[in-house]
Amino acid sequence: MDRISKKKSCYIVRHEISTDKVSPPCLPVCEAPVLIDTAVVYTDSAIAKQAETLAFQLKLPLVQPGESHELLLRCTPEGLELLKPDDPHLSGPVRVDFTAGAAAFRRKQQGKELLLRAVGCKIGRPLAVIDATGGLGRDSFLLAASGCTVQLFERQPILAALLADGLERARQCRETGQIAERIQLIVGDAVSALREMEDRGQHAAVIYLDPMFPERRKSALVKKEAQMLQLLASAEATDEAQLLAAALAVGKRVVVKRPVKATCIAGPAPSHAVIGKTVRFDVYLHMTGSLKKANAE
Ligand SMILES: C[S@@+](CC[C@H](N)C(=O)[O-])C[C@H]1O[C@@H](n2cnc3c(N)ncnc32)[C@H](O)[C@@H]1O
Repeated sequence: MDRISKKKSCYIVRHEISTDKVSPPCLPVCEAPVLIDTAVVYTDSAIAKQAETLAFQLKLPLVQPGESHELLLRCTPEGLELLKPDDPHLSGPVRVDFTAGAAAFRRKQQGKELLLRAVGCKIGRPLAVIDATGGLGRDSFLLAASGCTVQLFERQPILAALLADGLERARQCRETGQIAERIQLIVGDAVSALREMEDRGQHAAVIYLDPMFPERRKSALVKKEAQMLQLLASAEATDEAQLLAAALAVGKRVVVKRPVKATCIAGPAPSHAVIGKTVRFDVYLHMTGSLKKANAE
């Protein structure tokens, strides 16, 4: 069973060894409202209790399959998945699955990843990284696969539920278990948590930010995962400048993922950038002191 502890503005989802093959993601009762019409369904009566618990935690209705809602959070014996039943462009449900597909491919292609270069990850020198914008956890998993320990923040409750489920399954898989153990999911707002760290005089080695990408014009070409992320996360505005300022106040190294041609986030200029074909990582080094000085002047 999982345990939850409340830590000021955030909730840490703790996992303990479970013998239950399909243990439910265990989340706190949701304080942030889910802003989109969403309901919970289940596909198998063996997991009815799980679905009921999840609906209670997220304060969502538990409904019969076929009932019309904008989004359905579906509990299946294979995992939790999110569907948009009426969208013909969105093929298939979205799940967090670190054991197969793209996540596994990226895990095996570690050396090529610009992200690892941007965070300063070197073989034999594991880092402690705060991923302040969790999403579907793909970047966090890549960081953990390369040896980093990751504190993963996600404030959107449905995404947090998908993440908790994906992490639990990754823990139970022989290939990914140790990697998933290095990731701690924290459900809540990262800006508040970073400000609390600053108040306590704490620092972080690396803070990683991947705020929502600006909407692309050819939206049909955007992958289903990106579409779901946009739909869920854009309901709550992300103040990128606030996020960056909070990160710079405590992070010795702050890395921001941007579309390659996008401007930098408002604030101090990055120290350098690691540039790929479609994305760019802006790297801010040792700005905690200089920001304090600038504020005092
Ligand atoms: C583009 S997605 C990140 C994708 C992620 N890097 C991945 O690999 O899947 C941005 C995510 O950050 C979350 N987010 C934005 N602002 C946040 C904040 N202040 N605290 C916690 N999560 C936040 C959004 O809910 C959204 O899920």
